[in-house]
Amino acid sequence: KTPIAILISGRGSNMRSLIAACAAPDFPARVALVLSNKDDAAGLDYARECGITADAIPHKAFGKDREAHERAVDARLREAGVEFICLAGYMRLLTPFLTDAWAERMINIHPSLLPLFPGTHTHERVLEAGVRIHGCTVHHVTAGMDEGPIIAQAAVPVFPDADTPDDLAARVLVQEHLLYPAALRKVLEKTENNTNKAASLLVC
Ligand code: GAR
Repeated sequence: KTPIAILISGRGSNMRSLIAACAAPDFPARVALVLSNKDDAAGLDYARECGITADAIPHKAFGKDREAHERAVDARLREAGVEFICLAGYMRLLTPFLTDAWAERMINIHPSLLPLFPGTHTHERVLEAGVRIHGCTVHHVTAGMDEGPIIAQAAVPVFPDADTPDDLAARVLVQEHLLYPAALRKVLEKTENNTNKAASLLVC
């Protein structure tokens, strides 16, 4: 199994879905480290309850020096023997230092159908735009925010007269939890270009 790190900033529900997937004997990853830029991230406690090493390297200690923070993160990842990184609600803009160091070995989940709606507040912006299909994307991480080759996407309907941003967030999150482990498996098993022949809105 490939030793992975999961990087979080908050509650860590996607982290939980990855931890659950990794528990299966045939899943190609194991969680070597959970790392947060916030020492009060709720997900850290859950990871520790699962017996996983979970640390925080608060970015605030580094002031505006993003790269210095990333150097500390990078050192901790290497110390833990990590070979692959999953960003899961890690709300930091990354510099080329980290994206270059982990090129093709770092993926992210984003709550929209990229390249539409990069950035934050995606569910509000989807409702404002009036689109009828929304979803989530797992992609390779490159220097541009929410850019990088797409690995997998899942789509959900939007009900513009009834949905609130919270409704949409909840509908998308269900799909995130399914999509992220599936996408991670594809990358690690190097089956990214295989076509999923099942007719489905979940396009891996
Ligand atoms: C998820 O919806 C994830 O897609 C999003 O943050 C949430 C984290 O929730 N990530 C981004 O917006 C990254 N641009 P979680 O902590 O419960 O996994």
